[in-house]
Amino acid sequence: MSQRLRKVVFPVAGLGTRFLPATKVVAKEMLPVLDRPLIQYAVDEAVDAGADTLIFVTNRYKHAIADYFDKAYELESKLAQSGKKELLAMVQGTLPHNVRCVFVTQPEALGLGHAVLCAKPVVGNEPFGVVLPDDLIWNHGPGALRQMAELSARENAGVIAVEEVPRDQTDKYGIVDAEPVSERAAKIRLVVEKPKPAVAPSNLAIVGRYVLPGRIFELLETTKPGAGGEIQLTDAIETLLAEQSVLAYRFAGTRFDCGNKLGLVKATMHMALEDPQLAPAVREWIGTL
Ligand code: G1P
Repeated sequence: MSQRLRKVVFPVAGLGTRFLPATKVVAKEMLPVLDRPLIQYAVDEAVDAGADTLIFVTNRYKHAIADYFDKAYELESKLAQSGKKELLAMVQGTLPHNVRCVFVTQPEALGLGHAVLCAKPVVGNEPFGVVLPDDLIWNHGPGALRQMAELSARENAGVIAVEEVPRDQTDKYGIVDAEPVSERAAKIRLVVEKPKPAVAPSNLAIVGRYVLPGRIFELLETTKPGAGGEIQLTDAIETLLAEQSVLAYRFAGTRFDCGNKLGLVKATMHMALEDPQLAPAVREWIGTL
């Protein structure tokens, strides 16, 4: 996989039931952390990793993501006419000019593995990234996906982001058993989707970033439903291990699980404290709580 990472898949067909009633009309990927929707953080990370083709696997009801990255003619011309250059740059800056978006629909919600498989006609047989926008990863230096793409190219291997989680939470994640090969990387021996704490091989959990070879699509095509009755990406990766090495990678950065309310609150607070204009007032307010 010494090829450059060009394509990144964003599985965004989920219903976002944890954020009902807002998600009756707002796609969960459009929930903001300060002034930017979750999907913008995910896309920025993919672009930082070198991607020029972003593939959104969506459902037939979700149009907001396509609208968001589309050109907003009326708004842009109004901002241009009134000389609001900064705002105009912000609106136009959601996507660099050299990056294109492709939208694919997932006809049925059959699981993450199935969602990724829907991107096969666009990705073809080349290494690609997968970013789950629920997991917001913030780093001052290179983004998590870029760190992973570089490692993947260097080691000629698939790479999956991992993080230690409390033992009692292993059944919320894919869990790896891996042999350390460097400070941050470990060669995966085994990966299992959502094991109960008592049988989990470790507490090293997959978080939503992957760099995978095109071969994974063929494996997904024959992957049977697993945990939760869904076609799991984790199960296809487990099959891939018999053919090639896949590394678990402890990324540099902080991950916020924005798939739940507490994670979204934490991410919002974190970004507010990173913002030099907001931070003093936020700190002062926290002091009064
Ligand atoms: C998915 C993957 C799981 C991974 C998790 C990370 O699960 O199946 O292996 O640990 O994302 O966020 P989900 O959260 O979709 O249930």
